Amino acid sequence: MLIVHTATELRRLLHPAREQKKTIGLVPTMGALHCGHLSLVRACREHCSITVVSIFVNPTQFNNPNDLRNYPRDLKHDCDMLLATGADIVFAPDEKEIYPKPDTRRFYFGQLETGMEGAHRPGHFNGVAQVVSRLFDIVQPAYACFGEKDFQQLAIIRALTEQTDRAPKIIACPIVREADGLAMSSRNTLLSTSQRAHAPLIAATLMQAQAKAKELTVNTLRQWVIDTINADRELEVEYAEIVHERTLQPIEQWREAARPRLCVAVYARPVRLIDNICLRVES
Ligand code: PAF
Repeated sequence: MLIVHTATELRRLLHPAREQKKTIGLVPTMGALHCGHLSLVRACREHCSITVVSIFVNPTQFNNPNDLRNYPRDLKHDCDMLLATGADIVFAPDEKEIYPKPDTRRFYFGQLETGMEGAHRPGHFNGVAQVVSRLFDIVQPAYACFGEKDFQQLAIIRALTEQTDRAPKIIACPIVREADGLAMSSRNTLLSTSQRAHAPLIAATLMQAQAKAKELTVNTLRQWVIDTINADRELEVEYAEIVHERTLQPIEQWREAARPRLCVAVYARPVRLIDNICLRVES
C-alpha cells in the first residue's frame, strides 16, 4: 500500500493503471476509520482493481469550529487498518493541496438540501460537494463508495454526479453497527462512558419504530421516536424526520413512499450522532 500526499504524486501513480484500463475506485473519508469505512473499502475492492482511500478532514463542510477542532485524527492507525483491509493507495493531502485557493463554488441541490442536515448545518453540503468534486477531479475514479449512514449526503452525492462530467458510479453501502446496535461513526470515540452506554437507545428506537410503522400514523410514529429518545437523560433529539427515500421530503401518509426513511440527529452533548432506517411499509 502506498501513501501519497499530493495530487501530482497520485496522478503519476495512477497513470499506468489508467493506461492499462484498470478500474480505479475511490473511498473518500475523513479518517478516524472504523469497520464502517472498511466495509466501503471491501465494496470498492469487489468492483475495482485499484482502491484509493482519501483521508482529509475537510474544513469547508464543518459549520461548527469546535466540531472541526475536535474531529479525531490518527493517520498512522488509519493506514494500519487500510493495509490490513487491502487498500492500494492512501491519499492524505493537506488543505493547500485540496484548496490551493479558497473554493468559492456554490452547488445547488434543490429540495434535497433544504431539510435535516441541510437545515441544521448551513453550508455543510456545499462543503461536501466542494471536496468530493475536487477528489473526483484528482482521482477520476470509475466508482466511488459512500455509506448509507449519511443518507442525505448519499442523495446529494448522487445529485452531484448528475451535475459532473465523467462522474463515477456511486456504490452505496449499508450502515455498519456495533454489537449493541449503535451506528459506527468516528464521533463515537468522543462519547463519555456514560453517553456511550446510553447511545444504543438511538438504534434501538429506530428498530422499534420499524415494527411500529405498521400500526401508527407517520406523525404519531415520528413523535414517539422523539419522545422515546428524549426520555433518556444523556440524549436530545435535534430532528427526527420520516422522508421519501429519493426526494427526502417529509411524508404525511405511508402511501406517499414505498421505502420511507426515518432519519434522526441526536445530541449526546457536545457530540452529535446521526442514524437512519428504512421503514419498509407496504403501500
Ligand atoms: O462522509 C464523510 O466522511 C465526508 O463527508 C466525505 C464524504 C469524506 C467528504 O469529506
